[in-house]
Amino acid sequence: MEQKRIVVGVAGGIAAYKACTLVRQLTEAGHSVRVLPTESALKFVGAATFEALSGHPVHTGVFENVDQVPHVRIGQDADLVVVAPATADLLARAVAGRADDLLTATLLTVRCPVLFAPAMHTEMWLHPATVANVATLRGRGAVVLEPASGRLTGADTGPGRLPEAEEITTLARLLLERGDALPYDMAGVKVLVTAGGTREPLDPVRFIGNRSSGKQGYAVARVMAQRGAEVTLIAGNTAGLVDPAAVNVVHIGSAAQLGDAVSKHAPEANVLVMAAAVADFRPAHVATAKIKKSADDADAPSVELVRNDDVLAGAVRARADGQLPNMRAIVGFAAETGDANGDVLFHARAKLKRKGCEMLVVNAVGEGRAFEVDHNDGWMLSADGTETALEHGSKTLMASRIVDAIGALLRS
Ligand code: CTP
Repeated sequence: MEQKRIVVGVAGGIAAYKACTLVRQLTEAGHSVRVLPTESALKFVGAATFEALSGHPVHTGVFENVDQVPHVRIGQDADLVVVAPATADLLARAVAGRADDLLTATLLTVRCPVLFAPAMHTEMWLHPATVANVATLRGRGAVVLEPASGRLTGADTGPGRLPEAEEITTLARLLLERGDALPYDMAGVKVLVTAGGTREPLDPVRFIGNRSSGKQGYAVARVMAQRGAEVTLIAGNTAGLVDPAAVNVVHIGSAAQLGDAVSKHAPEANVLVMAAAVADFRPAHVATAKIKKSADDADAPSVELVRNDDVLAGAVRARADGQLPNMRAIVGFAAETGDANGDVLFHARAKLKRKGCEMLVVNAVGEGRAFEVDHNDGWMLSADGTETALEHGSKTLMASRIVDAIGALLRS
């Protein structure tokens, strides 16, 4: 991505220290970052830290460098504003249109996308005043992230934690890539997402696995949650991914465990997104003790495999049998290579028919594509015959396009 001008606003909460990592990640990605802390933010992190990390001077008021009219110039130049942490007070001031420091004055002059990453105690987050302020900002087109749940300052836990810097960076990048705001259009929708690879045990220390990183499924869960959906993510093995904020994550190992978790959560769900790489086969016998080499090295053991259930096909069947009355959209994924019988799309169309779901997201794989990488492209095939190309971009951008399409499906 080309260099962008990003303003990072930092309000006065304990999570201000996490803004340092955010600034670092954005500058390392090649962007030009200006940090605008509030006076209270500087009680938590010194101006020198933000100056060193961003490579730009740091001011809090509109009476410094007055000749340059900084709140107007910084605002007009910005491609994106990220406010992290956004405290309850900062959100209230943004809603009221106050301009009592450089950050809030700049918020009034910007015309680019604005992303607020709130962080505060659960009581403050759930207070009707904050709830109304968040709704107002979303109504004006700003993206207000759902905070993460977990340990807050002190012993209490609950929603209100600042999402990890990596997650804020990912979503900031999505706004730059999309070029428009992320709509808050999935409120009230219950979504079940599976992601990552399953591991089929051979003995207590060995398994048969696959190269799925889980990145695409995690991105779908993350984008769904930030668009307001209630998301459960059934996560197999992943490449050490950060659990998405505001998502209920259930970790599983084998295909059978994934199947059980889907059976448990699917009856509630309105949407099922099967991004997991589910093993088609498992060892017929799982040794209870570690399998040892035989004295005769030539005597290699052979592994007998048996079929696993097809979870996606099972969900389609269960819905047809009336067992999933809430389910309105089932989305499958397919990684395909062309072969002598046909190209990627030929195989994908056949798979969509075979699986009987509403939509199939297809990636071409092989030659370093799709697996373990951050970027991807592909197609979305719908049961009604529509075929939409997914432009090349981050897996988060692809996820946002997939969620756009699911949204259209739910509205149709
Ligand atoms: N899937 C599943 N259960 C399985 C295998 C696959 O639910 N036991 C789901 C995957 O999560 C994915 C879709 O089915 O959404 C397609 O997976 P893929 O492995 O491409 O499909 P297969 O039917 O196994 O086809 P192939 O013969 O090409 O492997």
